[in-house]
Amino acid sequence: MPLPLVIDTDTAQDDCVALLAGLLDPRADLRAITMVAGNVGFERQVRNAFLTLNAAGRLGEVPVHLGCRHPLMRPWVGAENVHGDGVGGLAMDDSGHAPEAEHGVDALVRLAAEHPGELAVVAIGPLTNIAAAVLRDPDFVRNVGRLYVMGGSNNGRGNITAAAEFNFYVDPEAAKAVFAAGFEVTVVPWDPLTLRQAVFGRDELDAIAALDTPLSAFFTRVCAATLEFDRSVGIDGTTHPDSLAVALLLHPELVRRTGAYHVDVETAGELTRGYAAMSWGVHGLDANADVVEEIDARGFFDYLAHLLATPTAPNRPMWTPDGPLTT
Ligand code: BDR
Ligand code: CA
Repeated sequence: MPLPLVIDTDTAQDDCVALLAGLLDPRADLRAITMVAGNVGFERQVRNAFLTLNAAGRLGEVPVHLGCRHPLMRPWVGAENVHGDGVGGLAMDDSGHAPEAEHGVDALVRLAAEHPGELAVVAIGPLTNIAAAVLRDPDFVRNVGRLYVMGGSNNGRGNITAAAEFNFYVDPEAAKAVFAAGFEVTVVPWDPLTLRQAVFGRDELDAIAALDTPLSAFFTRVCAATLEFDRSVGIDGTTHPDSLAVALLLHPELVRRTGAYHVDVETAGELTRGYAAMSWGVHGLDANADVVEEIDARGFFDYLAHLLATPTAPNRPMWTPDGPLTT
């Protein structure tokens, strides 16, 4: 039986790849996409989600719900310097489809209540919607079977600051609330996991381009700006924390090692806003999360390459600033 799933996303670059995994993996039954403020402008993110549905040939089949447009207590901070518009300038005819009327937080609460103990939620943006759902429905935590969170670093470096990873930095109060809420939660961190095991270098990117499918062309395009940024900061390839989170939920055989940690998030630090304090047993704190420490990196690449080899039929033509997107 495919797993009922919601992906909560700030759709740009690897969020698009994560959505493709949710849309195309036969183990997933993607019930909804919920949008949260994060990487790029909110309306841009929504267009990026529809472009991804289109690339998968699933436009109109999976509802897109608009969630929180800004963090709980702070102004929105984006990452347009990293991702550009998040899709490498791709565009399509946006007429004839629209987000659902139901708010993303209400959709999360409803779907969890409809599948109590079964619904999986993968949160790959700031945790604003998830924290709001906790406040909205006292049963939400119990109803969510599994929560996978991409965020934080496990006693490693941040990316938006030395201390903080982007998703936790943008809404640290939400992240703190989510780790205090009592979810069965698995964390896919930025450093060391993503930086060491989920970066695709030149050989992998060439192999994906050589697949010559609509999805491989889409992948290359949406990752282009981030690749340029990554190289400028000494990362030799594209980074895939969000698609890794979806892949590990659907394919636990890709996980080699997890650790039980007490995770808390800094909200008041002068220099450490959004820092994830991941404490292991010696600190005397009860564990509240499983943190992924090691994966089958080759298996993860093979998984995504197999996915991107799928010969989808995009619902509508897509254009780059230079002309049609071709395989
Ligand atoms: C996270 O921040 C975003 O820029 C990415 O989409 C990912 O979710 C990595 O820090
Ligand atoms: Ca993201």
